[in-house]
Amino acid sequence: MPAPLRVLELFCGIGGCAAALGSRAQVVTAVDIHPGLLSIYRHNFHFPTSVRTIESMADHEFRAGEVDLWWLSPPCQPYTRRGRQRDAADPRAAAVLSLIERIPRLLPPALALENVPPFQTSQTCQRLRDTLKRCGYQRCELQLCPTALGIPNRRLRYYLVASRGELLPLMAAGGAGRPLAAFLDPDPTPELFVPEAVAQRYRGALDVVDAADPGACAACFTAAYGRSHVRSGSYLATPDGLRRFSPREVQRLLGFPDQFRFPPDIAHEQAWRHLGNSLSVVAVRHVLSMLPGLA
Ligand SMILES: C[S@@+](CC[C@H](N)C(=O)[O-])C[C@H]1O[C@@H](n2cnc3c(N)ncnc32)[C@H](O)[C@@H]1O
Repeated sequence: MPAPLRVLELFCGIGGCAAALGSRAQVVTAVDIHPGLLSIYRHNFHFPTSVRTIESMADHEFRAGEVDLWWLSPPCQPYTRRGRQRDAADPRAAAVLSLIERIPRLLPPALALENVPPFQTSQTCQRLRDTLKRCGYQRCELQLCPTALGIPNRRLRYYLVASRGELLPLMAAGGAGRPLAAFLDPDPTPELFVPEAVAQRYRGALDVVDAADPGACAACFTAAYGRSHVRSGSYLATPDGLRRFSPREVQRLLGFPDQFRFPPDIAHEQAWRHLGNSLSVVAVRHVLSMLPGLA
């Protein structure tokens, strides 16, 4: 049995990357600025965590020589179409820029990153690309939606995988898809149902999918799901009325394992927010299969 890959999970949030890695890797340290997210992470994963800003880490904390892969899912706000798109000038890009600057000194054997599609044409991405090229990394960049992997949930994202060693060709996406109904709770709680007055008021603006439609595909669930009615994710038409997807249904669509749990004091609104900021576990697992230790 080869030794499990040692991963530094940067911007770890609730642990989407740890979920994608499963037992094939060991997270050496999971780092995030948000203590609440790290307590959810620790509720599910038994890896060491560190609450801090990435830009404040000293070089020795990256444990060069002991880590096989840097995983990065930096904040997307500097690049989103809805935001001001300040790119590298946005203070929220400081952490990822500090990582790019460290690459030539620390030379991680492999690095992988996930972000929103506009990241691909950003100055930040160009800086990363130039640095990787200069340091002799092989690189693959792609945009992937979980729908291409048979998941009935849209979440188009940009991925970059780079290695100083071999990168395997990406397996063809595809395979038999599962219908949306396979991801739904058998007994949804009453609080998920939308009052008739709200359903009427936002009629036409809500993205509604039918649980009985075998071809139904839910829209991307964003961090605003549960707070904003429009463009934050889909609603479900059921024989009992219109309802929101439960956090567990969103979690299942993202590909988190069934054992993944939010602590009992986390309200639905918080769980939706954290899941909306997280990632498609299925898509990340697929993309990381380009690394020999994770194929
Ligand atoms: C897009 S989310 C990543 C979510 C994560 N992949 C998950 O599965 O939940 C970005 C994360 O970066 C964290 N973050 C933002 N700025 C940071 C910084 N300067 N240092 C460390 N973490 C930071 C946020 O708290 C957030 O959890």
